[in-house]
Amino acid sequence: MSNNKTKSKTASASRKKSKKPLKNKEIKSKAGAKKTAAKKTAKPHVAVRNSPIHGRGVFAVNAIAKGARIIEYTGERMSHAKADRLYGDLHDGSSHTMLFAATDKVVIDATKRGGPARWINHSCAPNCEANEEDGRVFIDAIRAIRPGQELSYDYSLVLEERHTPKLKREHPCHCGVRQCRGTLLGKKR
Ligand SMILES: C[S@@+](CC[C@H](N)C(=O)[O-])C[C@H]1O[C@@H](n2cnc3c(N)ncnc32)[C@H](O)[C@@H]1O
Ligand SMILES: [Zn+2]
Repeated sequence: MSNNKTKSKTASASRKKSKKPLKNKEIKSKAGAKKTAAKKTAKPHVAVRNSPIHGRGVFAVNAIAKGARIIEYTGERMSHAKADRLYGDLHDGSSHTMLFAATDKVVIDATKRGGPARWINHSCAPNCEANEEDGRVFIDAIRAIRPGQELSYDYSLVLEERHTPKLKREHPCHCGVRQCRGTLLGKKR
């Protein structure tokens, strides 16, 4: 339901170009030539486990650097119309969704054939963000993440109807942070 087109509930990605993920650090020698630093940034490693926020969640296994590209949100790619046909009714009266609106045209449905990113929960003070690039959605760290910490991003769910207090209550957030806004719903654009 992001971009006010769909009936089904979809999280949505930031459309801004994401910063390049940290890979091997490049350092400049005095002579100006680029060298690859000996110390490489470890590849982010994550695991799916039970979450204190909701159901299952995704947790960092090793330390993840701010800016690192962690994982791609994968699943079946379909039109918003097909997502509506499949989930429009199901989503009435349930806040549970595994749909991600990658673009105005494409929804990624992780319900049946999704990768582990589908288990990442929402937080109102997230340590990750979802970035869309060429129709693909990547989860990138926006803070340094310690081993054992749960990954989260802001779902910013946008529904077709007005975001009334009742609708917000029907999509409660249990992220538990001090500044929790109490709902998975985001701001209407
Ligand atoms: C893609 S699933 C994430 C995995 C989910 N924990 C599970 O076990 O199915 C998204 C759904 O998880 C729930 N969820 C995620 N973050 C939440 C939060 N902060 N508070 C309450 N429910 C949340 C909502 O039902 C949401 O639609
Ligand atoms: Zn919250």
